[in-house]
Amino acid sequence: MQHKVTLIPGDGIGPEVMRAAVRVLEATGVKFEWETFQAGADAYEKYHEYIPKELIASIERTRVGLKGPIGTPVGGGFSSINVELRKRFELYANFRPIRNLPHVPTRYPDVDLIIIRENTEGLYSGIEHEVVPGVVESLKIMTEKACTRISRFAFEYARKNKRKKIHAIHKANIMKLSDGLFLRCSRNVGKEYPEITYAEHIVDNTCMQLVMNPYQYDMLLMENLYGDIISDLCAAFVGGLGLVPSANIGEHGAIFEAVHGTAPDIAGKNIANPTAVIRSSLLMLRHLGEHEAAHKVEQALEEVFRKGDSTTKDIGGKAGTSEFADAIIAAMDSAPARTNAEVART
Ligand code: NAI
Repeated sequence: MQHKVTLIPGDGIGPEVMRAAVRVLEATGVKFEWETFQAGADAYEKYHEYIPKELIASIERTRVGLKGPIGTPVGGGFSSINVELRKRFELYANFRPIRNLPHVPTRYPDVDLIIIRENTEGLYSGIEHEVVPGVVESLKIMTEKACTRISRFAFEYARKNKRKKIHAIHKANIMKLSDGLFLRCSRNVGKEYPEITYAEHIVDNTCMQLVMNPYQYDMLLMENLYGDIISDLCAAFVGGLGLVPSANIGEHGAIFEAVHGTAPDIAGKNIANPTAVIRSSLLMLRHLGEHEAAHKVEQALEEVFRKGDSTTKDIGGKAGTSEFADAIIAAMDSAPARTNAEVART
């Protein structure tokens, strides 16, 4: 079977790490038809639109996207393309697994955390205006519908994947209405899942608790902004932003992307770490039902990490982005093949 996927190479290191991921994906033997479009400033030059109609139509057709990071101007300019795409396709659940890889020096071994972030509202609604000169207002929108569906997503994931505990992270002591609603919805949904322990932590305390002892958490359930900040904090537990994948999931589609940004400081030098995008591709393969291929890539990636030398410099290796991909492909070629059914049994 051939899978149609919308490919957005992105800006900065995006094209380099995406090229590495596509080469690894194609080496699995799974057949892809890529529909490639740019978005953001590059797209504006060509189409006079930041998100071209052709890109929207492609995602409507394929329902699956693999996306590189896209730069967003700070303090002015166009709105975040990432946020726009998530809102446009109602990709309400941002799923970020945080797990160590072999031989990456970190302060904490054996971290296994799942972050579930609401992706469509909160302060990311982008409703800001100037009330009078010198006074601006930014609105935090929270709805019962969105709070309930993200909680349901988290509890369903926990049930299916035998996770034990969900902490809802909030600041309801200050934002009594908005974060209060988030907590009420989480508690209500949680009552339907008695086998999963439900707890609540205030976001600032959570930052300290995470750094003191990340093992006390299993799954973190959050609104948009807290999820964004805490994801980067948790990426540091397992070696940094170059390693952590994510999936944006909705009822009718999904877009897979790394947690990191465009890294302009290292763009175009063939030194960016492609692991985060490759791990995001793994999530995509599983979403497409290609469990055998996902298993193959995961094993090969871990093998390359175990050997060490063929990883990028940010994690102590000696290879460039493309050589790292070569090593993963070589490791896949030398691994024994397994069927989807065999993988499902493990
Ligand atoms: P960033 O993630 O691009 O970079 C932060 C630091 O991590 C930099 O030192 C960078 O070199 C390093 N880094 C990031 N990815 C790496 C990789 N794969 N390998 C090795 N090192 C890596 O964050 P920053 O600088 O805050 O944002 C830059 C731009 O990216 C901004 O325009 C921002 O809006 C955009 N961005 C886009 C995202 C997306 O498309 N989903 C997510 C986050 C930021």
